[in-house]
Order: sequence, then C-alpha cells, then structure tokens
Amino acid sequence: MSKNFPPGPRDGCFGLRTMAGLKADVLGTYTQLKERYGDVVSFPIAGQRLFVFFHPDAVREILVAQAKSFIRVPRVMRVFAQWNGSSVLIAEGEPWLRQRRLVQPAFQPRRFERYGQTMVAATERLAQSWQTEIDARGSLDVEINQAMTDLTLNIICRTMFATDVTDTSGDIARAVAILSEVAFHEMQSPFTLPNWWPSRFIRNKRWAMNVLDEAVWQIVRTRRAAGDDQGDLLSMLLAAVDEEGDGGRLDDRQVRNELMTLMLAGHDTTAAALDWVWYNLAQYPASAAACQAELAARIGNRAVAASDVPQLKFIEAVVKESLRLYPPAIGVFLRQPTADVDICGTQVPRGSLVALSSYVTQRDARWFAEPNRFLPERFLAPAVHDLKPNAYFPFGAGPRVCIGQSFAMTEMVLIVATLLRRFTVALAPDQGTVELQVHASLRPRNGVRLRWTPRA
Ligand code: HEM
Repeated sequence: MSKNFPPGPRDGCFGLRTMAGLKADVLGTYTQLKERYGDVVSFPIAGQRLFVFFHPDAVREILVAQAKSFIRVPRVMRVFAQWNGSSVLIAEGEPWLRQRRLVQPAFQPRRFERYGQTMVAATERLAQSWQTEIDARGSLDVEINQAMTDLTLNIICRTMFATDVTDTSGDIARAVAILSEVAFHEMQSPFTLPNWWPSRFIRNKRWAMNVLDEAVWQIVRTRRAAGDDQGDLLSMLLAAVDEEGDGGRLDDRQVRNELMTLMLAGHDTTAAALDWVWYNLAQYPASAAACQAELAARIGNRAVAASDVPQLKFIEAVVKESLRLYPPAIGVFLRQPTADVDICGTQVPRGSLVALSSYVTQRDARWFAEPNRFLPERFLAPAVHDLKPNAYFPFGAGPRVCIGQSFAMTEMVLIVATLLRRFTVALAPDQGTVELQVHASLRPRNGVRLRWTPRA
C-alpha cells in the first residue's frame, strides 16, 4: 500500500503535541485541521497513524459500505469494557451479532405505546414537582443537566427493567459522570493505571464502578428471585434463546453486562441531548413558541402519547437540530481497519486509526447553510429533502447504528412536549456563557441554569 498519506500537521515530538491539542480541545483542534487540510487529514499519534475524515461520502464508506472491514479500536473498548463487560456495545463479529439480536426485541415499535406512557408519567411528575416549588417560591431556576439525567435514568430503568431507581439515582448519576471523565482520560493515555493505584482519580473510579455494579446486580438478582415475566427487556434477556444462532441462553453475568450498557447508553447521551435542546429553546424563544403552537393545534389539552410523535414535526425538528449542533455521542466514531481499505481515494493501511467527527461534519457550511445557527426548519419538508446524505449522523449509521435511536427520539419529543405544555423556558439571570465539555458525551460544562415560568 502506498505511503502517500494525506496532509496533516508535522509534529516532531512523535505526535505528542497534536495529541496534547486533541486532549485540551478535541472539537477546536478537529475544526482547525479541517479548515487547514480539507476533507481528510492524517498524522502520527502515539505510534500509530490517525486518519480523520470529514466528508459525508467517507462517513458512508466507513460506517456503512465498508463497515465489515472495521472494528472499534480495541484499546478504547478495553476502557469501556471495565464497567460494561463484553456487552453489545463492546463485542465484535459473531458474538456482537448474537447480542444485538437478543437486545433488539426491546426496541420493536409495538412496545413504544407503553414506553411512551412511562416517559410521559415520569415527566409529568417532574413538572408537578417544579410547579409545587413555583407555587411556594414564585419562580424556579433549575440546573438542567442534573434534572435531565435523573429523568432519563428513571425512564430507562422503568421501561427496560421495571425498576424504580429514584432513591439511588443521585449516586448512579455521580458514578456515570465520574466514569465519563475516566473514559475520556484513559482513552487518550497510552496506559491505564491499575485499580489499586493510590490516587483520588482511581479511588473515585473504583467507587463509581462499585455503585453501578451493585445497582445492576441488585436488579438482576431481584428479578431472578421473583422469577416472574414482566414483559420487559430484563425478562426477555433472562429467558432469551438465540434462535437464529446456537439456541443458547445468557448467563447472569451476560445479562448484567447488557443491562449495564443499556442503563448507561440509554440515559447518558439522551440527557446530554436534552440539555442542549433546552439551552437552544431558551435562546430561541420563537422556536419554543412554534413548538407550543404545534402542541395547541395537534394535541390540545390532553397529555401526549407515543402515537402523537409523528404529528409533532416541529418539536422533532428542534430535537434533530440540537443533535446537529451538539451531537452528544461525540467520541464513538473511532475505528481500526482490519484490512487495507480505500476510502474515497485515500489508501488506509490495516491497523491504522480512523476517526470521524459528527461535530465538524454537521457544522460544515457546504451541507448546512448558516451552520452555526439554530434553524429547526432545515429538518422540515421541503428543505429536509435537500440535505446531503450522511452529512448528519448523531446516531451513527450502518450495522452499528444506535440501537436506541427511535427510543431516544420518542423520549425526547415526549419530554419536550410535556414540559412545554406547562412552562416557558429562559436562561436563568445568573447563567453566564455555556462552555462545551467533551467527556464520554458532549455536555455543557457545569450544566445550564434555566428559568421555568408556568404558562397562563
Ligand atoms: C440522544 C440519544 C442517543 C444518541 C445521540 C446515541 C448515539 C449513539 C451512537 C453515535 C452510537 C454508536 C454508533 C457507532 O459506533 O457507529 C450508539 C450506540 C449505541 N447506543 Fe445509542 N444514542 C442515544 C440513545 C440511546 C438509547 C436511548 C439507548 C438504549 C435504550 C442506546 C443504546 C445504544 C447501544 C446499545 C449502542 C451500541 C450498539 C452496537 O454497537 O451495536 N442509545 N448510540
């Protein structure tokens, strides 16, 4: 294979300088690299060559057309496997396919009406608690990151495992935040400190892994002991037979691993996405008013349900536009080719590192006019038909596309609808500029404080 690599920064220090730039500000560094070198850039990093592709055609090649020639980077997956085990998120090849088939039934469309009821009921409870505070105090400023994390964590645990985690959700959320940071640091370090290492970082990591492990084992054991079929994902996994595969069942550890992944992947990115939806709506009151007008026209005074979601086109467009500007699952598009591949004319040798950046591609003016402006209308007909294929991929694409995509979209639309029926939203007076924080997901650093005012 030719050694004619695409251009990129020349870094005399074995890639350490570029690596430091990526660690300090990965989004800014990628944005600058694209401005300087174009649709593909390559450079050595930690003893390997990294290729970063920004063009939508390359997104299609890597995630869809040639997906079979790529795996997730083993070193990165080892970081996540520390708490996920060998779940559907981590596995490759045949084991991955088998696990994906076992988990898939939980996401059949016929289940969504019931999921929708749980999502709306949980959001109504939150709205009611806010209303009670407003009645007592006159106004309410809420740190939205914590509120959305609690809400989405409760929803995923109720829908998938029929479990109420209200009492432990604070600890679980803290543990997830710690591991999100741990993942970010360990992914970028050439080595991982052992878990006995005497430092605060490792102590926190151990605490967080224990909290999550205990929470998930508790769920598995309680259900095993009860022995009843609640018709949820947990019952499905405990009873699952892989009919298209070897007909085998999952043991408790495998069930624990899938549960852990669905609990984490099923709330963390959704909460991050909702943070940005609310932040955008607070800054663009005309879009929030358009959502409320849509609710008045389509729903009237009753509560929303999953079957209403196809009618709520503007709210859906608001969610999609937020996912374009702030794609929460930011660090997942790192792959390794298992054979030499040709990506849109670039020769990529087996074993190199290949990265995509949804953040940069989704803010490219060639595919999205006024790319930094919040314009939900671009996701409505007729404009949506002109979008460049594969320029928008917050959930990924191809065989490893997010399994929870429809679940997350339904959940976000229902949450936005339920809260906007009751309240208007604005930035709290003491909220300064919001900075981006890239850990395992893209969140507002230090959260966002929002003021909620009941509608007349
Ligand atoms: C806004 C919310 C969400 C976003 C932006 C998101 C995004 C993503 C992305 C980008 C991937 C990786 C695609 C790749 O590597 O090519 C992924 C994978 C995954 N997501 Fe999501 N996700 C969200 C919500 C959810 C929910 C609600 C669940 C479960 C209920 C979920 C479960 C998973 C799982 C299990 C995988 C691994 C799939 C596999 O490797 O086969 N996600 N998600």
